[in-house]
Formats: sequence, C-alpha cells, structure tokens
Amino acid sequence: MAGTQVSQDLLRDDSRLPRVPEPGVMVIFGASGDLTARKLVPALYDLAAQRLLPMEFAVVGLSRTEMSHDDFRAKLREALEEHRADQFSEDVWESFSKSLYYLPGDSKKSETYAELKDFLKKLDEDHGTAGNRIFYLSSSSSLFPTIVEHLGEAGMNEDAGGEEDGGYSRLVVEKPFGRDLESAQELNVDIQRYFDETQIYRIDHYLGKETVQNIIALRFSNGIFEPMWNQHYIDHVQITVAESDGIGTRGAFYEETGALRDIVQNHVMQVLCLTAMEPPVAFDPDSLREEKVKVLKAVRHIPEDDAESFAVRGQYDEGWVFGEEVAGYREEEDVASDSQTETYVSLKLLVDNWRWAGVPFYIRAGKRMPKKATEIAIQFHKTPHTLFSGSETRGLEPNVMVIRIQPEEGVSLKIGAKVPGSGFEVRSVNMDLLYGTAFLEEAPDAYQRLLLDLMLGDPTLFIRADEAEGAWGILDPVMKAWSDGGSEVARYEAGTWGPEEADKLLKRDGREWRRP
Ligand code: BG6
Repeated sequence: MAGTQVSQDLLRDDSRLPRVPEPGVMVIFGASGDLTARKLVPALYDLAAQRLLPMEFAVVGLSRTEMSHDDFRAKLREALEEHRADQFSEDVWESFSKSLYYLPGDSKKSETYAELKDFLKKLDEDHGTAGNRIFYLSSSSSLFPTIVEHLGEAGMNEDAGGEEDGGYSRLVVEKPFGRDLESAQELNVDIQRYFDETQIYRIDHYLGKETVQNIIALRFSNGIFEPMWNQHYIDHVQITVAESDGIGTRGAFYEETGALRDIVQNHVMQVLCLTAMEPPVAFDPDSLREEKVKVLKAVRHIPEDDAESFAVRGQYDEGWVFGEEVAGYREEEDVASDSQTETYVSLKLLVDNWRWAGVPFYIRAGKRMPKKATEIAIQFHKTPHTLFSGSETRGLEPNVMVIRIQPEEGVSLKIGAKVPGSGFEVRSVNMDLLYGTAFLEEAPDAYQRLLLDLMLGDPTLFIRADEAEGAWGILDPVMKAWSDGGSEVARYEAGTWGPEEADKLLKRDGREWRRP
C-alpha cells in the first residue's frame, strides 16, 4: 500500500534526527578578539544547550593576552549574558564552561605550538577528545600563513594529528581571505602547502543563514520558478546589503578593508552565485561549489579604465539614523580625516551566459543606511502589451519577487490587482510569505549551523579555493581603478540610501534602486 510505503520511508529517513559530531577540540587563534566572544562561543553554547555538542568536547582559546582559564571563562560568561540574555542557563553554563580553556602565546613562536600540542594531548586524556582537532583562524589575517606554517611544522596539520591514535585535523579560515586576487592566491598556496583542500573550511557566515540557504530551496524545490529564472522573463536583479550601523569601534580594521572587501567579495558574491547558478546535479559540496564557480567565471570583466561606468564608492557624512544624530565616517575613531575608504559600494555586473545575457545584476552594500535590510529583488519584464489606460495603471509596477534575507525573513511577490470599485484601476500589491509565521522553529544562528557542519566534516556551506579567487578576480579591476587615484569617494549623508552617483548608475540604464 502506498501509505505504508511512505511511512516506512519516513521511518528510515534520518535527515531530521539531530546530528551529533564526533569528540574533538576547537582551537581558536585570536581568541581574545571580538568574534570569539560575540559569535563563536555563543554558537557553541547554543549547540551545548541543544545537546548537539559531543560530551567529549573542548575549546582552547589562544592569543597573546595574558589570561588564566578562569579569566577566559569569566569573560565569555559576561559575553554570553549579553548576547544570549534570554537563553542563558546556569546549568548549561556549568557544564559547558568546564570545556573552555585558554593558552596565552605568541602565534609567531614555535614554542607556542609545542605547548599547544602537549596541552591538546592532555585534553585527549582528560576529555576523551580522541585526537580530533579544529584550528580556527580568527586572528589578524596577516598572521594566517605564519600560524599554518607553524601548525604544519609541529605536525598538527596531519589528519592523524601526527599521532598513531590521532583523529582528524581541520583548518577554518575566517574572512577576509586575502586583500585582492594575488594575495588570495598566495594564501591558498601557503595553506595548501600544509593542509589538503579537504581539510580547509573557508568560512562566510552568510552561508550559515537559513534565509541564504533558502535561496537554494526556493529555486530548486519549486517547479514554477525555474522556467522564469532567466533573461526571457527577468529584466534585472538588485542585491542589497544595507546596514544602519556605522563602523563602531572597528575604525582601524575598516580603514584597511572598506565595504568592497568587507561585504561584497564574500557575502554579496555568495548571494549572487546562489541566485544566478544553474541547478546543481546534487546537493553535495562539489556539485554546489562547481556551479557557483561557473557563475563567477561568467561575470564580465570590468574594464579598469572604465570602472566608473560599473562601480560607485561612497562614504557617509554625518546625518540622522532612526532619529539619532550620528558622526560622519571621517570623524569616527581611528579613521583618517581625509580617508578615501568606501563605506558604500554599488556595482553593475553582467553575467555572460545563456541564462543571464543582458540581465544586469545591480549590487549595493553600505553602512549608515536608513535601515538594516538584506534582500534580493528579481524584477520581471513589463507585460508585453498594456491593456489598461495610463490613468488606470498609475500605481502599477512590474512584477518583483523579493527574497528577504533579513530582517522579516520571507519572500514577497509584487503583482497587479484591481482596486475594488466600479472603475478599473489596477495597482501593485504584495503577496507575502513570512518565515516567522510559516514555521514554528526558530532559525539557528549562522555560526551555530556552520560550526556544527564543520565538526561533522560537511564542507557544503564553506568556500572552495577557486571560489575565493574567482570573487577577487571580479573585484580586482575596481580596486585597482580606485587605488590608482580614480575619482574621489562620493559622499552621502548618514541615514540615506547612498550617493547620487549610485542612482545615476541605474538611471543610465533607465532603472532605479528599490527602497527596501
Ligand atoms: C561582517 C562584516 O562580515 O558582516 C561586518 O565584517 C558586517 O562589517 C557584518 O556588519 C554583517 O553581517 P550580518 O549577519 O549582520 O548581516
């Protein structure tokens, strides 16, 4: 009977059962930094609270700051009380905190690694962590090659941990992965000298977001979108990563980085790839990453001597955000008074393949925008013939499908509908799906998902070497044009949607930016 067959299949299907990883240790380089307290440890704490961490698990924080194990734990507890205020449980903390350790050490010195190796061996004995090691590079990126070399020299790169009874060894590399194509290629060579690509997990937290993964679900688990997902039906695509926050206390980092490197090279390029890629043959690491790389290869090269026609950079001046007066970028701490660093970028990218020929992808990412909004807007062509008069269709816009990544995660479709009444006025209205109301489960934090995948050895949602390089390759000509003195960074008032130049970028094509 068909019904019996289905329930038997469901019984056999273990995809909804919690996946608990093998025992192991996570060593965090740069552990005194912000990421550890704000993201990594809260994500591990959440996993512990949901019993998704193995009992035999430990974290070792490593950085130069002198701290005892207890100081480290106290610092993390404080951070958890702040970032997990509602969910903090004394019981969970009691057992979780016993797995937290700290080693002060200079990551440029060999003795640090000898000490680490001994310490890890001791943890294997005390916590049963079975020689499985994850090395998480969350320090300044300039230290990545040095750390990897030392790990290699100490034999900690080997999958057997250099020991007969050892387990796996994995390397996690935080962003930014290099500063440009050349440095990313060098970094790949440096880390691949000691670690095999299968051991390397380049992390981009956007891939851990449920709503980013949902782009894949939306496109490939529904038959109705795929036939329309191409140049025959789509006029253009807009990808927006807007933040209302400024750069906070990260002035020194941001001066070196800027919006193009901080957001576009990684988060935006990943979203672009998932939106534009062909259906992968399977949902496995290589099939998915193969398709993403093909998109990056198809993006048309931006000519360095005409970068202005494709790229705009902006920087915020003082202004008002949510009714509060905020300082301009150049007034922020650790920022030069004549800084040319961009806090806003917009790009026009063309994907030269059969699916997307002639469909521009307009991208923008900026700080101090009127609100936080990350979304993909797919704008469809206008109807080929207008049945109604101009006055009847004054409020009618082309169909737009918006995939909202955050906040108010969901999907909406703008359609034309008749305004109730005796006339025939047609206006655009939204059909809205809000994930928050469609599902009862709360979405896990992006890092929680990625750290779990990492411990389970699933690299699907991590970046492959050629993806990182492909994304830099697209942006290199723009960065060169800007650093070779191209036009000055354009200005925009904090609390607005970016500089006028960005509006002109679309106006030239007879289009305009959406207001998310
Ligand atoms: C980080 C950037 O990678 O992403 C930050 O360094 C940015 O500058 C952040 O604020 C945005 O992430 P999210 O998850 O808040 O969209």
